[in-house]
Amino acid sequence: MTTPSATLHASTETKVVDVAINNGHALLTIDNPPVNPLSISVRKGLMEAVRQVNEAGCETAAIVCAGRTFVAGGDISEFAGPPPLPHLPDVLDAIEASATPFIAVMHGTVLGGGLELALACAWRIADAKTKFGLPEVNLGLIPGAGGTQRLPRLIGLERAARMAANGKPVNARTFEEFGGLDLVFDGDPMQSLAGFRAALPARPVNTSERTVENADLTALKAEIAKGAKGADAPMIALETTALAASLPFTEGSKIERQTHLDLRTSAQSRALRRLFFASRSVTRPDRLKAFEPATINHVVIVGGGLMGAGIAAASLAAGHRVTLLERDVQSAEAGRARVEAIIAGDLASGRITEDKAKARRANLAAGANYAAAFDADIAIEAVFEDPEIKRAVFGQLAAVMSPEALIATNTSYLDPNLISEGMPGPGRFLGLHFFSPANIMKLVEVVGTSATADQSMATAFAFARGLGKIPVETGVCDGFIGNRILSAYRRQADYMVADGASPYEVDKAMRGLGMPLGPYELQDRTGLQISWANRKRQLAAGSWPGRYVDIADRLCEMGRQGRGSPMKKGWYDHSSGAGQPDPEIEAMVAAWRAEHATGGQSFSTDEIVMRIMAAIVNEANLILEEGIATSDTAIDIVWTEGYGFPKHLGGPMFWAEETGIERMREAFAAIEAQSPGSWKAAKIFQG
Ligand code: NAI
Repeated sequence: MTTPSATLHASTETKVVDVAINNGHALLTIDNPPVNPLSISVRKGLMEAVRQVNEAGCETAAIVCAGRTFVAGGDISEFAGPPPLPHLPDVLDAIEASATPFIAVMHGTVLGGGLELALACAWRIADAKTKFGLPEVNLGLIPGAGGTQRLPRLIGLERAARMAANGKPVNARTFEEFGGLDLVFDGDPMQSLAGFRAALPARPVNTSERTVENADLTALKAEIAKGAKGADAPMIALETTALAASLPFTEGSKIERQTHLDLRTSAQSRALRRLFFASRSVTRPDRLKAFEPATINHVVIVGGGLMGAGIAAASLAAGHRVTLLERDVQSAEAGRARVEAIIAGDLASGRITEDKAKARRANLAAGANYAAAFDADIAIEAVFEDPEIKRAVFGQLAAVMSPEALIATNTSYLDPNLISEGMPGPGRFLGLHFFSPANIMKLVEVVGTSATADQSMATAFAFARGLGKIPVETGVCDGFIGNRILSAYRRQADYMVADGASPYEVDKAMRGLGMPLGPYELQDRTGLQISWANRKRQLAAGSWPGRYVDIADRLCEMGRQGRGSPMKKGWYDHSSGAGQPDPEIEAMVAAWRAEHATGGQSFSTDEIVMRIMAAIVNEANLILEEGIATSDTAIDIVWTEGYGFPKHLGGPMFWAEETGIERMREAFAAIEAQSPGSWKAAKIFQG
């Protein structure tokens, strides 16, 4: 953003807020990279600027921000301790009460404290691409500087309560319609500001002094409670916003501030903030910082099935040229149709414009000739989960691609070392394990082989980040970080079903914890066949750990391979749409128990959760001990981003710590006693 040359330039004591006064109008420029958070230096600078513009008797004072965005929030790194002075509410009160009225001139993402700052100004003008929101709930918090009390006074109670409770941003046109903006502009911000000042409207009543019309929030409350899935902050944000209709601003904001400060130390907020920071550090391993990632233009995807089509769509969305290679021309066209269906879906839902959809379609080629990969910068194979087929694909790619270009496998369980063994240029091979649907799910496990070059890893990480993904490094083991833990989870669930729990009880218990689906519902959703094939492989290799419950195998043999299978049945009956518990399954499980002389045990909801979590946490600790994951936060990122573990519980490792090691030990002892010889104990559970 450009700032006008100043005739009178006076620096404040801090450089992050620059004040320039020109013909009686002040321009404050906040420059606190990368996103202009309201750190202590910015708060001090603003406080000083208010004094300065009033002393100079300025007619107006505009606040702009340098860089890519207006203030995008508070400084989260300050949230761990008591906030240093001046506090944001006092700064904002000073701005609102200033004799010189303030104008917020906005671009980028005006979030949290940024929006609170704008609400304290007399006027708000914004670039048409600006987004506005109160995302504090995503960190287990509510706004703490008047956001819940000023916003309803500006745009109405229900709209404000929705924005505070769901944390989702709205665009400039919507926010203008709500009454949140005085002007939306499309061109140069400084010219727009000059135009606005030239026809300056009468100073409005301060937002905090306006009254709020009451509204019936019953339906909104039900909607928010349903969406929160156990997270506390959304409903607290809603209830706090509702206070604006019954309390004066000063009282409402006092409660808001106290609630905000209390929530800072809550387990949910600590969990969410830890994940927030981890998702930045885990995606940028220190070891790789010395390497300049190679530029990726042309992406080749081999296999245009479910995963290949999703990865292709994600690559196109990031602006890459994509070639889809398939077994034959007919399959290639089917793959192209899958990708085009994803693009059409994005267009229909309004996520992208017609121009963007057109550009993506134009960037997509599909065929069966590997010669097309000659100038590819990266190739990702997503063919059938069969080592021989994958090796053949790798060989064909290696023969035509530059030795510098990356060749990756999307395998769920196979060892990328074996897929690439003996091939020329071993440093370029790796695993890039996407999650389904790959165009939506953010997690990507990056699997280095024993020969993968750090340069290749750096490029792979940068490529995944460029796709908007969260890449997490994992070593090689059966299932990498995520699916290996999933196998332990399923194993313990199966042991309980074998011993007396119904699969429907297990699902309900895990949903009660906040998982979007229980383990059996999840199997029905993803299909039972991939893990069946994997179990067969492990049994044949003699690597199955301990007690084997083959109830799921029986389902597969019966053709009950999940919701998407021709029978439309798995653990549930999906033939009439929504999955229904099936008496046939109950009978089958009962027969299995009779055959194996098991059953008869009952498990409370708490026991189900604790035993499953003990299996998960044990496996996660083994993964750490073996060096497969680089940190406990990496595991928590994988399970929250890839498997739907509730973010407000922080991931399995954080959850275990909060639950307490003693309770976890008891639960682990219970699963060892339930299925002796089936669990290798991690160090924390030994002795
Ligand atoms: P899919 O069966 O939907 O697609 C596989 C595609 O590969 C088919 O279109 C097939 O025509 C094509 N293909 C087979 N052999 C080929 C060859 N020699 N050359 C070119 N194309 C060939 O399978 P899906 O589910 O997309 O899985 C693909 C890979 O991704 C597997 O390794 C799987 O383990 C892995 N994966 C699957 C996930 C899932 O949720 N389905 C999740 C993460 C990884």
